[in-house]
Amino acid sequence: MKKITIAIDGFSSTGKSTIAKQLANALEYIYVDTGAMYRAVTLFALRKGYIDEENFSINDLIANLDQITLQFKYNEQVGFAEMYLNGENVEKEIRTLNVSNYVSKVAAVPEVRYQLVKQQQKMGADKGIVMDGRDIGTVVFPDAELKLFMTASPEKRAIRRYKELIDKGDDVKYEDVLRNVQNRDYIDSHREDSPLRQAEDAIAFDNSDMGLKEQFDRIMNLAKRTIEA
Ligand code: DC
Repeated sequence: MKKITIAIDGFSSTGKSTIAKQLANALEYIYVDTGAMYRAVTLFALRKGYIDEENFSINDLIANLDQITLQFKYNEQVGFAEMYLNGENVEKEIRTLNVSNYVSKVAAVPEVRYQLVKQQQKMGADKGIVMDGRDIGTVVFPDAELKLFMTASPEKRAIRRYKELIDKGDDVKYEDVLRNVQNRDYIDSHREDSPLRQAEDAIAFDNSDMGLKEQFDRIMNLAKRTIEA
């Protein structure tokens, strides 16, 4: 059967990765969460002290980008590939609110984007891939056969993220999560390099009031039609 590239972009916490994982499993495609790559670079910058509340030594980060090795390794127990930073499993640490608070600044650095986009394009060179992020349909794979753009209200997204973090045992406040979602929306959509925007040929999906099952069924139908076309 023909293999295609599926690009899923959209605002943070719109459930992109949940739907992308399900789709990849059903189609037996590779799934790549590009947000995890930007998060891992952010964790590296935090650990090295290149970024904190007051400062961001962009030049130090750029000078040391070659010290970063990112890998996805499939974990059968969880059913998806986890993020490794220089050989260490950082899947949990990259999802904390602390990393979320800095990631948009790191993701706005053109040199960081250049390196990560190159790696992403390599991963998808043979198609048969579902990739989610902010610039997949616009920059990474402008020729993707199927492009989706996910949206939902900031409040709905903050509630989803808040529940996820609380379930993981993180001590967070809903107001802080909402502020983080809104800040990231702003920075991600207003940065100069590859801002978040809907590709002209992307199909928009507002899932504020849509259950997971309905969403999956609709998107799976779109994928099947595209593959058979
Ligand atoms: O999808 P996520 O929330 O894990 O992404 C984390 C951040 O990384 C997000 O605020 C924007 C950035 N990002 C990006 O700029 N480009 C991508 N392709 C993926 C994520």
